Amino acid sequence: MIQKYFKNWCGERLPLDTIRNHFKNKFVPRHRHTIWYYLGGLTVFFFVIQLLTGVLLMIYYKPTMEGAHQSVVYIINEVPFGWLIRSIHSWAANLMIATLLLHLMRVFYLQAYRPPRELMWMSGFILLFLILGFGFTGYLLPWDDIAFYATQIGTEVPKSIPLVGPTLVALLRGGEDIGEATITRMYTLHVFVLPIATLLFVGIHLFLSQYYGASKPITTRPKGKDIPFYPNFVLRDLRTWCIALILLIGVAILMPWGLGEEADILRPAPEGVKPEWYFIPMYQTLNILPARILIFDGETILNSVLMIGGFVVFLLPFLDRKAKQRERNKFILTAGTLVILYCIVITVSAYI
Ligand code: HEM
Repeated sequence: MIQKYFKNWCGERLPLDTIRNHFKNKFVPRHRHTIWYYLGGLTVFFFVIQLLTGVLLMIYYKPTMEGAHQSVVYIINEVPFGWLIRSIHSWAANLMIATLLLHLMRVFYLQAYRPPRELMWMSGFILLFLILGFGFTGYLLPWDDIAFYATQIGTEVPKSIPLVGPTLVALLRGGEDIGEATITRMYTLHVFVLPIATLLFVGIHLFLSQYYGASKPITTRPKGKDIPFYPNFVLRDLRTWCIALILLIGVAILMPWGLGEEADILRPAPEGVKPEWYFIPMYQTLNILPARILIFDGETILNSVLMIGGFVVFLLPFLDRKAKQRERNKFILTAGTLVILYCIVITVSAYI
């Protein structure tokens, strides 16, 4: 009775029928790669977990040199379930980046970036940077020794960019060295600037995904009828999220996220300081690159290659000349595979 009244009340005020009809007319292609279509939704799921756990952590976290580490110790030891919320936040951050990279790879290999989905690719590419930004800015916040030295190395990277490099470093650090100003900056970016920008771009990305519907890969044969988005695919998405939630809570409990000793700016860097795994390809390339190549500085070359490469990837939908003929672009696929293989090999070698 109440349910019916509520449904009618909402139906008279909101375009519920239009929304229902839209979802009913949306289908997800059924073929041997359909399983990869869950990755975008999984990334959204982890992002929501990050927002919820992040807000809870903000209640006790103190973004100061004196208070940061102590407040994290307090969260772990004193706040009821504080250790679990922190552990979930840290694990979900890593899992989100993993699902995001896999989602990018599925879009790339099924060449789903092709017209008319150029804006989806471009908004997704911006999201990739925003999400990596979360990882970078969040790393310093516990103010432990590894975080401190890794951020020192990380904020050093833009230094060799011609003209703007030193200013960029000073802007990130809030001065010459890592200190109070750096924590405040990283915190502001982490809890305010990045969430707002990410919410905006996730909104655009999801709106476009509803508008265009899921793309059909050109070379894969369909396996029966397409799957109705609502309720069938939505229920499958929910099932995936439930499994992800159980796994996430499981790892967060069994392997609680650690915390190093409080950072001491006077202590020498401990052995084996490394950034998070998703920054390793860049970090390790810097390590193996000679300091000078001909007349150029090694770091400047790497920064230039990364910037040009990033720009090329951003504009990929416009560079794919085979899109019009609806053929596989072997050159682009091979180049992408080589980059992915390079990142995997160099990451593994860094850990070995
Ligand atoms: C926070 C990050 C991201 C979220 C939450 C997200 C979410 C989604 C979702 C839910 C879909 C529809 C379901 C699916 O196809 O998996 C989708 C599709 C898509 N995404 Fe993302 N995405 C993100 C990042 C990216 C990145 C980094 C790229 C590439 C640079 C990208 C490119 C695309 C494209 C082209 C589609 C359309 C695929 C098709 O129609 O077959 N996305 N995304």
